[in-house]
Amino acid sequence: MRPKVIMHTQISLDGCVRGFIDTGIYYVVANRFNADMVLFGSETIYTAAEQYPPETEKSFSKPLDKPGDNRLMWVVPDSRGRLRNLHVFRDSEYCKDFIVLVSRSTPQSYLEYLRERNYDYIVTGDDHVDYAKALEILYEKYNCSIIRTDSGGILTNVLLEQGLIDEISLVISPCLVGTGEPHAFRSLSLANSIALKMISFELLDDDHLSIIYKVLRNRD
Ligand SMILES: NC(=O)c1ccc[n+]([C@@H]2O[C@H](COP(=O)([O-])OP(=O)(O)OC[C@H]3O[C@@H](n4cnc5c(N)ncnc54)[C@H](OP(=O)(O)O)[C@@H]3O)[C@@H](O)[C@H]2O)c1
Repeated sequence: MRPKVIMHTQISLDGCVRGFIDTGIYYVVANRFNADMVLFGSETIYTAAEQYPPETEKSFSKPLDKPGDNRLMWVVPDSRGRLRNLHVFRDSEYCKDFIVLVSRSTPQSYLEYLRERNYDYIVTGDDHVDYAKALEILYEKYNCSIIRTDSGGILTNVLLEQGLIDEISLVISPCLVGTGEPHAFRSLSLANSIALKMISFELLDDDHLSIIYKVLRNRD
């Protein structure tokens, strides 16, 4: 068994993942999913801010379990071991703690970095993370029944290719961005098209559109 996986992405009308004004509508829709965890791409976390404060003593401790704590666990695949900025988000307003997904090719020095700071990590896959296996572990060991994505497309495209996305939620922003920014489905490679069924659509703030599709199955 694995959690329900909801791809949630804000795009411009022409499909770009950046270049529009972020109105916070993305999170209005995201918060409705009642997800237990958020699955970020490592590039998304890597580029989340230009500068980060240095680590403190607190960066090395696992946050305490507090009753009624509704903050989500943030899950991030980082098979190359690039992320050294996790302390910025850990135990913050929206992030309870991290679970890092690594593979058998992740540098030992990075695993040591994670261990020294008491981050949970899951090792699956030889080169990149084996997401099917990692999701099973999140379900079985961490009781995760719903996980939503926060990715600029590379990660969600891999998950779609592997048949691991159950719903696609798009928030469409009222603008065209053009070729200067990446597109949400730019790396999606499919042998066969995937059939979708619309679950809902809704006008938000007069000019944004939320559309949610259920992923049916690969078409032959
Ligand atoms: N509009 C939106 O809703 C939205 C949401 C989030 C972010 N963003 C924007 O999107 C940008 C980043 O997006 P992105 O698409 O470049 O990166 P991303 O979504 O962060 O995806 C990168 C992730 O994909 C994994 N990956 C890459 N190739 C893989 C493969 N062949 N097999 C398995 N896993 C693979 C990487 O894992 P490894 O690290 O293990 O290689 C990494 O964790 C950010 O700058 C942000 O501005 C937009």
